[in-house]
Amino acid sequence: MKVLGVSGSPIKNSNTDRALRLALESTGLETEFIKLKDYTIAPCQACLGCIKTNRCVIDDDGIMLAEKAKDADALIIAGFTPYSTLDARTKAFIERLYQLRHTHGYLAGKPGGAIITYAVPTDNEMMPPASDFGVNAIKFFMMEEGMEFVGDVRVEGNVPCIKCGDGDECKMSGIKMLYGPDATVSTVGVGAFEEQPAAVDAAVKLGKDIADKLKSK
Ligand SMILES: Cc1cc2nc3c(=O)[nH]c(=O)nc-3n(C[C@H](O)[C@H](O)[C@H](O)COP(=O)(O)O)c2cc1C
Repeated sequence: MKVLGVSGSPIKNSNTDRALRLALESTGLETEFIKLKDYTIAPCQACLGCIKTNRCVIDDDGIMLAEKAKDADALIIAGFTPYSTLDARTKAFIERLYQLRHTHGYLAGKPGGAIITYAVPTDNEMMPPASDFGVNAIKFFMMEEGMEFVGDVRVEGNVPCIKCGDGDECKMSGIKMLYGPDATVSTVGVGAFEEQPAAVDAAVKLGKDIADKLKSK
């Protein structure tokens, strides 16, 4: 049995990537990690050209990546939340899985999970609930394809202003906007997945739960 993990995070060895790798490792099964930045994948163009063939007409890596999703027994999708919604690469990947839907429902019945890295603290009621929007985008896709949504992992990531070098001076900085008027780059600090016990536990649990689902089939 094989579990496919797909990360939409473009950052090298990002929090999103590391959470996904831990979830995959926790399955104890054969796994494959895909970094979407390494591939070319356009969004669905809604032409319905895949209806009769289950093969997209766009000649890019979206065809090969859909084949991998079709061949896998389970799927974990990991993304982040620019402007409070699922990132464009991960969204394009999801849209291109539409080619697997028609007549056969090639993803139906497969266990799936979501991993989302976000920056807006979940207790900040002035900002959109980015982690909910990100998780739901993946969860509802899986539900619409008849997959069995097993669970999600939420990782508190870093607002880019933490690392850009101008985070304390820039009038557009997200530091005070997200963390309050007294916050600075040094008081907020750089967050890492491994320092978040709840997220680490959730990643391990997601991997184990997916493995249990597969073994009970
Ligand atoms: C252009 C841009 C916009 C972002 N906007 C938001 C946002 O609106 N809400 C949010 O929670 N995080 C936002 N983030 C932060 C990311 O969701 C996330 O914390 C981080 O980029 C994840 O990176 P990682 O996977 O390398 O850890 C934004 C990041 C970028 C690059």
